[in-house]
Amino acid sequence: MSIQTSLPKQHRLELIRVKPSEVFESETLPKTVERGLSHRPKYLLCRFIYDAIGSELFEQICDQPEYYLTRTEDAILRDHANAMVDGWDDPPTMIELGSGSSTKTRRLIEAALDRYGSLHYVPIDISGTILEDSARTLIDDYPAIRVTGIASDYDTALRVVAERIQGPKLLVFLGSSLGNFDDEDAVGLLQRIRSTLSADDRFLFGTDLVKDPTILEAAYDDSAGVTARFGKNILTRINRELGGNFDLDGFRYEARFSPEHHRVEMKLISDLEQIVTIPDLDLTVSFGAGESIHIENSHKYTPAILEQLAKQSRFLEEASWTDPDGFYRLQRWRT
Ligand code: AVI
Repeated sequence: MSIQTSLPKQHRLELIRVKPSEVFESETLPKTVERGLSHRPKYLLCRFIYDAIGSELFEQICDQPEYYLTRTEDAILRDHANAMVDGWDDPPTMIELGSGSSTKTRRLIEAALDRYGSLHYVPIDISGTILEDSARTLIDDYPAIRVTGIASDYDTALRVVAERIQGPKLLVFLGSSLGNFDDEDAVGLLQRIRSTLSADDRFLFGTDLVKDPTILEAAYDDSAGVTARFGKNILTRINRELGGNFDLDGFRYEARFSPEHHRVEMKLISDLEQIVTIPDLDLTVSFGAGESIHIENSHKYTPAILEQLAKQSRFLEEASWTDPDGFYRLQRWRT
């Protein structure tokens, strides 16, 4: 049995809060609103959908029958977690980008604990509160786990990882979160991930695949209207936090697959000509009938696109796993 199993709980939990980078912090809601709503076509950054309400709505999206991503990824993890965590003599440190509640990761954590007997898990999330709650639950549930949570943006946290984590690493990025980055930004993130990894390390991540547009569009416009409420939450935030007077009923939500950009594009479309004021920014925004605000992209991949991304970020694919329908793919890359 490893030493960690005998450590009392308070020694198995460390939380590191690091000030996010200037680049991350300089992108505030007022700035994105000012810039995005003065731009043609209008846009807003999807990151600002996620306040407490947006995050709760996202949890609900994951349970919608049309949103196959979460359950398909979970089924692949259930079937292949053992192979995904295998390959080292001693347990690699498992680092997770965007860990949230760490629910999706439990299959990997349990497989690693089975295989190695103990585990050092390093979840990374921008929300210190979520990180602390989930870390406490994990150390309660798994006596052989040690958790070092890093509350910061991805780039800052990766720098902390490079400085503090010795030995082999398994870096995990689940939920097809890469898909919310435009291709150029995805390559940038992959390159930065690559630069924190060595020859003994592996990068395991999940990606949603290109498929029938009907299935994709339904996944991003569920019949219960949860995703539409999620998207409109960005207008609610502008109203609440910046004194805006968006009439939520004056905008309709739309999700369309663009084969050219291999992504589902999510927009809020003004039903009529209207003028919105945002007093805190001294901003008046006029909308023509049918004019849209582009609020989010969710990229879908093919093995060929993934191969291209690997090439651009100097990774080599070691293994991949899909579900029987070929809807979703996890892959393990090495440097
Ligand atoms: C977090 N991310 C991977 C989700 C996705 O599928 O792109 C966000 C989302 N937006 C609408 N539905 C889900």
